[in-house]
Amino acid sequence: MKFKILTLFPEIFPGPLAYSICGKALSRKLFTIETINIRNFSEKKSKIVDDNPYGGGPGMILKPDVMQKALDCAMKNSVKKKKLIYLSPGGKQVNSEKINQLIKFDELILICGRYEGVDCRFLEYNKIEEVSLGDYVLSGGEIASIILIDACVRLIPEVLGNKNSLKSESFQNHLLEYPQYTKPSNWKGIKVPEVLMNGNHKEISDWRLKKSIEKTKNVRPDLFKTFARKNREIK
Ligand code: ADE
Repeated sequence: MKFKILTLFPEIFPGPLAYSICGKALSRKLFTIETINIRNFSEKKSKIVDDNPYGGGPGMILKPDVMQKALDCAMKNSVKKKKLIYLSPGGKQVNSEKINQLIKFDELILICGRYEGVDCRFLEYNKIEEVSLGDYVLSGGEIASIILIDACVRLIPEVLGNKNSLKSESFQNHLLEYPQYTKPSNWKGIKVPEVLMNGNHKEISDWRLKKSIEKTKNVRPDLFKTFARKNREIK
C-alpha cells in the first residue's frame, strides 16, 4: 500500500511510523510513504502558500492554485485504485469500518492542512473526502495522517504476525477488547481470574466474550447498540 502525503512539514514523516510493527512493515516495503512539500509549488519568491480568507476572519487559508499543483504532482505516476483524503476536524469521523474500506485502495493521497484549512473549491474540484479523527482540533493534519496510516498498516495482511490478535482486537466485532492479564498470577493481592488458568479454551473464550460485552455496555453504549443489532441480524 502506498501513502502520498501533501504537507508543509515533510520532515515529520515517517516519525513514529518508523518504529515497532509499522517500522518493520516499512523496512519490508509492505507499505511506502512519499511526501510532497506543498511549499515547493508556490510560484512566489517568498514561497507563500496561503492567503487571508474572503469575508474576513482569523487565520490563513491554503491557496487552491498552489494545492492543485502539489496534487497534480502527486497524481503523476499514480495508480488507478486510489483515494484522496483531507484530514480535518470538519470531516466525518473515521472508525474501524472506514479503515477496513481504506485498505482496499492501493494508494491513499493524504492532504494535510495547517492554519485555517484549505480553500473548499480545491476539495470539491478534486472530489476529496474530508475525514476527521475526532471532535478536537489538532494543529495540522500531519499527526492525524500518521494515526490513519498506522491504523491502515496494521490491517495489511503479513504486517501483524499473529492474525488471531486482530480478531480479538477492540472494534473488530463491534466490541471492546476483554481485559488481559500476565504473570505474576497474584500482583498486589489482585489475582488473575481462575478461569484463565484452567486451560479450558471454551470456558476462556466464553468468559472473554462476557467481559467484552460488559465493558462495551459500560464504556461505549453506542458501540454496544451496533453489536446487539448485528447479532440480531445474524440470528
Ligand atoms: N486536523 C486538525 N484536527 C484534526 C482532526 N480532529 N482530525 C483530523 N485532522 C485534523
